[in-house]
Amino acid sequence: MKAITLVGSTGSIGTQTLDIVAQYPDRFRIVGLATGNNVELLASQIRQFRPTIAAICSEEKLPLLQELIAQVDPQPILLAGEAGVIEVARYGDAQTVVTGIVGCAGLLPTIAAIEAGKDIALANKETLIAGGPVVLPLVEKHKIKLLPADSEHSAIFQCLQGVPKGGLRRILLTASGGAFRDWPVEKLAQATVADALKHPNWLMGRKITVDSATLMNKGLEVIEAHFLFGLDYDDIEIVIHPQSIIHSLIELQDTSVLAQLGWPDMRLPLLYALSWPDRIHTNWERLDLVKVANLTFQAPDHQKYPCMQLAYAAGKAGGCMPAVLNAANEQAVALFLDEKISYLDIARCIEQVCDRFSTHNRSNPSLEDILAADQWARQQVLLVTENLDSYSRTISLR
Ligand SMILES: NC(=O)c1ccc[n+]([C@@H]2O[C@H](COP(=O)([O-])OP(=O)(O)OC[C@H]3O[C@@H](n4cnc5c(N)ncnc54)[C@H](OP(=O)(O)O)[C@@H]3O)[C@@H](O)[C@H]2O)c1
Repeated sequence: MKAITLVGSTGSIGTQTLDIVAQYPDRFRIVGLATGNNVELLASQIRQFRPTIAAICSEEKLPLLQELIAQVDPQPILLAGEAGVIEVARYGDAQTVVTGIVGCAGLLPTIAAIEAGKDIALANKETLIAGGPVVLPLVEKHKIKLLPADSEHSAIFQCLQGVPKGGLRRILLTASGGAFRDWPVEKLAQATVADALKHPNWLMGRKITVDSATLMNKGLEVIEAHFLFGLDYDDIEIVIHPQSIIHSLIELQDTSVLAQLGWPDMRLPLLYALSWPDRIHTNWERLDLVKVANLTFQAPDHQKYPCMQLAYAAGKAGGCMPAVLNAANEQAVALFLDEKISYLDIARCIEQVCDRFSTHNRSNPSLEDILAADQWARQQVLLVTENLDSYSRTISLR
């Protein structure tokens, strides 16, 4: 029986993780749950999974949470605020912490869990992208396992089982192409929030769905793959694979290529991150290649997806630049989702902010440097977009 804590329990990753726990009650039990704002769902999860501790980031929701679970016996420890979420991440005898928080908000809880000696089932990619330079040394120091739960990195990790050290030559990350895969570039100026949220294959949270439309998600995954598997950026490639059946591939030194396949269902990488190195028998729909019929591939279109190149450039720049890219993207996507900026402004904002930061970047950043860069980048996006008309005019003259 593995003891698990789940931060970001009310989101897409969180609820799918709890589906797995509900399906395998003899294998997994929940120690802690933490979430942002969704008090009703957290309360119902507490009633069902009976954690020892739970936290809600929005402090004003704590009284309602207490009221909603008043009948639960025994009562869990209830906490609120960022400090409460961090305490849940580090608490008790949980062996693995699943990180389902969206965005850089996942960084400090993840660090707390690592410092408490817990293995990490890493869904929250922003943690590693922004915090890679401090997170990886902590993983080493505390001798914990960082198990990828993102489907592409899980695929690479699965393919790597049994590959000797030094055997990996190239990573091929597959991308569905997102909501605008079949749109002509000229039409993107009219893309609405509703359009961007129509992902062809995966049902995910809003932020990552927009990241899939811009392909920033894949760019962020390139940086994540660099940190997780240690390859140079030139050895990590992106290929558009519209069916999302091959979740990624690795090429070995002798040019042999290995791939991991499955239906687009996040429960599979989540289950593997929880069960590794074991394989658990499931009754989930099995892959039927005849039903799939076609597996096709295309080179990504750089004109359509400028965020991809911005991510490669930030990854290669290193230091705090990935944190700046990530924070600028989070802020720009939030503004887009609030209909404050247009779809095309997302990439424009990120490019401007990364340009502005380039002379301030430093190698070997501390956690404080990373957090400061994150805050700076969010502020810069607001400044850049303050006067959007003149901003857009400036951009179009470049
Ligand atoms: N969804 C997928 O299929 C998928 C696949 C691969 C990787 N990922 C990665 O997994 C992460 C989560 O994605 P998602 O799609 O599950 O997002 P989501 O559906 O938007 O859920 C986000 C979760 O984070 C919680 N949260 C937000 N801010 C928080 C804070 N300050 N403290 C504690 N909890 C907070 C939310 O709580 P409330 O809702 O209660 O506010 C919610 O539970 C992202 O990093 C994403 O890139 C997701």
